[in-house]
Amino acid sequence: MPLVSIKEQLQRATEEGFAVPLFDAFEMAAVEGIFAAVETKKAPAIVAIYDAFLSLPAVPAHAAFIREMARLSPMPVSLMLDHGSSPGQCEKALALGFTDVMYDGSKLSIDENIAETRRVVLAAHAAGAAVEAELGHVGQGSDYESIGAARDAFTDPDTVGRFVADTGVDYLAVAVGTAHGLYKGRPHIDLGLIKKIRATTDIPLVLHGGTGLSEAQYRDAIGAGIAKINISTDLIIAATDKMVGAARAEGASYLGIVHAAREAYRERCSYYLDLFGASGKG
Ligand code: 13P
Repeated sequence: MPLVSIKEQLQRATEEGFAVPLFDAFEMAAVEGIFAAVETKKAPAIVAIYDAFLSLPAVPAHAAFIREMARLSPMPVSLMLDHGSSPGQCEKALALGFTDVMYDGSKLSIDENIAETRRVVLAAHAAGAAVEAELGHVGQGSDYESIGAARDAFTDPDTVGRFVADTGVDYLAVAVGTAHGLYKGRPHIDLGLIKKIRATTDIPLVLHGGTGLSEAQYRDAIGAGIAKINISTDLIIAATDKMVGAARAEGASYLGIVHAAREAYRERCSYYLDLFGASGKG
């Protein structure tokens, strides 16, 4: 089917208590691995491109490849801009046919974040796309000891109602104890905070920094109200490990190494689709 905005699937995930994963993809083997997982598991999913990659000359072709893979697939798959750094970047993604965009104004003041997110929402909704914004700020795992201990920039539940009403945003990324990349120290997720935010708004809630949590932490976060979980670092590590293994194997070949990347994505994405309860929901 054609690419779809993941909005309907995220609303369903919120109601039925599962989560749709977002998988960041950097090239074709990764995309093929994601689609292989989605089709085997009969699941919805989001393929994402990071903001920093949007200006690469090959991105229109990469987006077109993802669109074609989606068209050939019976499962609902969205193409999302991850961490859009400005309204202009989000508009660029919309022009390339992205079905969902994240605008990340999480380092701005709340009033600036509202104003910029509102601009993106108007442009995206006019194009039939949906928008994710971030309230509070999800930092880096390498700084986790200070973030986790100090609850630095966690989402303030008292600001959620105003943020959602004033922006018209479709999904909300929350800072509740996760961080991007590998954690220095053990991650602790504030489930009570997720529940409080869940009680304040009915739009789908998003957990960034999905790599490195225990299976129980994923399940508990979904149980508390998370409907979308972003995964990137784990896929990169798994693909690197498999590619290095393939390169060192006897009779190593270029195609063997590409195949290893595809397989790593297929295996890890399948694992997350099962773990998040998305399998069978496509
Ligand atoms: P990880 O790299 O920690 O999996 O986080 C991914 C992410 O949140 C992308 O938006």
